[in-house]
Amino acid sequence: FHVDWDLVTAEKAGFDHFMLKEIHEQPKAYRDTMMSRITEDGKSVELKELGMTAEFIKSIRKVHIVACGTAYHAGLVGKTVIESLVRIPVETDVASEYRYRSPIITPDTLVIVVSQSGETADTLAALREAQRNGARVLAITNVVGSSIAREADHVLITWAGLEIAVASTKAYTSQLVAFYLFGLHLAGTIGAQEASFIEEVITSMKQLPEQVESILEQSAVLKQVAESISHHKHLFFIGRGVDYAVAQEGSLKLKEISYIHSEAYAAGELKHGTLALIEDGIPVIALVTQEELYEKTLSNIKEVKARGAHVLGIANAGTEEEVAKSVDELFAIPKTLPLLSPALSVVPLQLISYYASLALEHDVDKPRNLAKSVTVE
Ligand code: G6P
Repeated sequence: FHVDWDLVTAEKAGFDHFMLKEIHEQPKAYRDTMMSRITEDGKSVELKELGMTAEFIKSIRKVHIVACGTAYHAGLVGKTVIESLVRIPVETDVASEYRYRSPIITPDTLVIVVSQSGETADTLAALREAQRNGARVLAITNVVGSSIAREADHVLITWAGLEIAVASTKAYTSQLVAFYLFGLHLAGTIGAQEASFIEEVITSMKQLPEQVESILEQSAVLKQVAESISHHKHLFFIGRGVDYAVAQEGSLKLKEISYIHSEAYAAGELKHGTLALIEDGIPVIALVTQEELYEKTLSNIKEVKARGAHVLGIANAGTEEEVAKSVDELFAIPKTLPLLSPALSVVPLQLISYYASLALEHDVDKPRNLAKSVTVE
């Protein structure tokens, strides 16, 4: 009698790859990251662990978010979250640029570094640069006791659990949740939003885990999409607002593990260049989740369709019939608040990347030339 399994197989818990397992762990990561921070009455967010006084919070005049790779993309969403909830100006930078561009850091600047591992060399250097200039640094990280967690002035842990696949999934979505929590905490402390609105956002946040589960149940459809995409050499992701931020993450995910060239474009910017690259049959993935920008993105979809693109639309339940008229294929995500949609709309993109990599028989968990954590320059 011989049992043919080793530790790695056991750790994959029945999934073929760590990436797929981690995609499926997102509902749990959402619950773990948000639950202990939402008050029992569901009305507010409490982040006592930050050790940030109300006085300090009220003194913040601008925010810099600094990170690399996928964590940078979470920071792009974080900018919209903080700006719209708190109305404080936010800049998001990649750490390897920030640290060398003499950023204007003043004592009333809060610098937020985002890092799954807490060990990325450029992000750590950016943290030190910010502190040298007198700013306080908040770290959003997944690793308690990491270098970044130890050196930061304030730490917000994402409780995504160990992430093994090089392509980050549950760490990214947990970083989004951390930004929602932090944004609500700031808004509550400063009084920047009505209590009823804060409660509405929290109520919608609590629905995210189940909503992700319902997306995961539709994996078979996304697998088909991925298989047809895998025959192409180039594709585009388009969107506006936070949809553009998610488009960038979707494009990175696809490049990292399928090696298919893709670009993310702000939908309204297409006509300033990229439209020249749209030819017959080229796949375009269009994110259309933001109600106020919806008509605008639909008109950009018409522009690419007119040049022969094959468009997959990702839209909210409720608008899907309308969007379906303008696209070739449609995937609907459950209805949520516009600000929270990235926490759902990225999930189909993660699955498309995963299945495209699988179809091309690449090493999904360990893509060529890439490392899970870049601790050297
Ligand atoms: C590497 C990984 C990426 C990750 C980036 C930042 O490039 O392959 O998945 O997003 O580093 O890592 P961090 O641990 O700082 O979030």
